[in-house]
Amino acid sequence: MVEATSKIPVSQIIPDGEIYPGNHALQRLPLKDIAPSPYQQRKRFDPETLKELAQSILHDGLISPILVRPSGDGFELIAGERRCRAIRDYTNRQTIEALVIAIDDRGARRLSAAENLHREDLTLFEAIEAIVEIVDADLIDNRAYGAMGTSPVDRVAALLGKLHAITNSKDRGSQVSREGELLLDKFIQQVEEIFKKLPKPLEWKSFYRNDLHLIVDTAEEVREASVRHTLNKSQTRALKKLHRVSQGRFTALIRESTGPRTGERGSDEPSPGTGSLGDFSAAEIEMIAEKEIRKQALAEQERAREQVPLLSKVKALVMNRLGIPTEVIAANLGINRKTAKKYGQGTMVCAAVRRELSKGLAVPVIAGKHALPEPLVWSVALEGKDDQDRFDALGWKVRPWDYWYWNNCDQRFGDDWPGRIPAQMIGHILYYFSDQGNLVLDPMAGGGVVADTCLAFNRKCRSFDMEHRPDVRPEIESHFWDGDNLRWPIQGTDKPDLVIFDPPYFTKKSGHYDAKGISGRSREAYLDFMGQFLSLTHRCTKPACRIALINADWRDFQRTPARDEMRRKAILIREYLEILDQSGWEETHIIQAPLSSERFTGTMVQAMQKRKTLGVISRYVIVARKSE
Ligand SMILES: C[S@@+](CC[C@H](N)C(=O)[O-])C[C@H]1O[C@@H](n2cnc3c(N)ncnc32)[C@H](O)[C@@H]1O
Repeated sequence: MVEATSKIPVSQIIPDGEIYPGNHALQRLPLKDIAPSPYQQRKRFDPETLKELAQSILHDGLISPILVRPSGDGFELIAGERRCRAIRDYTNRQTIEALVIAIDDRGARRLSAAENLHREDLTLFEAIEAIVEIVDADLIDNRAYGAMGTSPVDRVAALLGKLHAITNSKDRGSQVSREGELLLDKFIQQVEEIFKKLPKPLEWKSFYRNDLHLIVDTAEEVREASVRHTLNKSQTRALKKLHRVSQGRFTALIRESTGPRTGERGSDEPSPGTGSLGDFSAAEIEMIAEKEIRKQALAEQERAREQVPLLSKVKALVMNRLGIPTEVIAANLGINRKTAKKYGQGTMVCAAVRRELSKGLAVPVIAGKHALPEPLVWSVALEGKDDQDRFDALGWKVRPWDYWYWNNCDQRFGDDWPGRIPAQMIGHILYYFSDQGNLVLDPMAGGGVVADTCLAFNRKCRSFDMEHRPDVRPEIESHFWDGDNLRWPIQGTDKPDLVIFDPPYFTKKSGHYDAKGISGRSREAYLDFMGQFLSLTHRCTKPACRIALINADWRDFQRTPARDEMRRKAILIREYLEILDQSGWEETHIIQAPLSSERFTGTMVQAMQKRKTLGVISRYVIVARKSE
């Protein structure tokens, strides 16, 4: 039996102060007559805190009544589930003070969600879910909106996603479709209003970008860890990233971080059992994820190096088209000279490629169909063309100035190799400083981008590297430039017209190359090597030979504020210019060819800004000729 007590203003109880029309009265209701709210988002109720709440209600009374609406023979709860549970489960009371209001489903949903948003113990996810509930409750009567998904979160994500894309396009000045305009007209004002009227007003775009995705696609274990360690939004986002990158590393981190952290702050790895996850900043968790990404990229590179071995016929053809002498081909492939010559000419293979080209097949398709390296097919496809036509055919534009920047390496040329340079840069060096048929030397060839580009530009090329990969890169001959005993690897009278020298930039990427190489040497030994190498190259190349030295300033900037860097540790471009000069070379051009700043991740940038670290992304192509 419902017992009316007194009337109080609804605005005292309804969280955002909205007054709903109709009757409302404060009444004492039997708990058994109150059905739970179908809109309750909250899933966890901690028994300990419920017991505490029950004690406080017994002691001080119920500070604010629960909110219900009539439903069937009884009532349906709108707000106050914790209070109901505390009294029902932990006291002897059978009734509870309730404010009974007449309200429709939409209003009940909204109030229930808004009441949730006021709770102090709300988890990050519950707060986002409550906002989704409010938005969905306000829009669900609209048919177009209702058709956007089967659950509130699907619908809200779909609508905000569309509005986000449309408004971004408009901001950029792009054309928006008619449907887009209609959608915007229909919803934008209402959405802005809803977010403005939230208990804590919020920008809908910021909610879409920063919050919503946390409940859309966050794995249950990430949610659980986030709630257990009361992580904030950025920490959760970073943890989610780690989980996506490596579930193994995620699990290890959760396992390891069980107690208060005692380890040194700033190190990116927690020591086992000594950290609580909540003690790690978002940046630190993200650093762990970034480290995993780098590890996986390295493993991917390793896999890429294990490419499918080429047939001897194809190897000999590639080598021959690069002008490698038949005796070298024979010796390197372990076949006799006659076979090396026959394979090298590759009459049948080239005829097949030309046939396919005449049928209009694209170069990559032919390469795939005949299991040939794409640069080899380009070398056939571009026969007889001048350099400008080759640029056009490859879809490159000649840069007629001394600033060469490319966002990405052209994947058609060269392997994924640590320190890989863009083929476009090699194309420009060849274009400006060599002619077709010239011999190019690449003494430290790495992933083979120079040889590949030479194939496309009809240059001869001898490539060398201490890393030997005869199965996939037969044209890169095995040669170790020994700083204590330098040896010129090209026998006979053939002398290079152009040297493209892309050495390791001192110790940068030293972990990626064999330690016996020059990046494993001391600063003095590295510079000494440069002097000896450039002198030897001066002696063994044609009089009109040019050298294109690709390098960057090497500064000890990692973890060091710019002001604390030590000049004596650095190797600046000036040093290379001096060594060139001392070795008989004079520079004719210093071309800027910057590295992409994308190699600094957001987290790294933040850390660098904090420490005032000044990174290096400048890179140069120093072109020199022999001094007169
Ligand atoms: C910067 S990478 C070249 C990258 C290449 N230009 C590319 O785009 O793929 C430098 C190369 O020098 C090689 N190297 C370093 N020291 C060497 C040495 N002493 N003798 C031969 N090769 C060496 C390394 O193996 C590495 O492949």
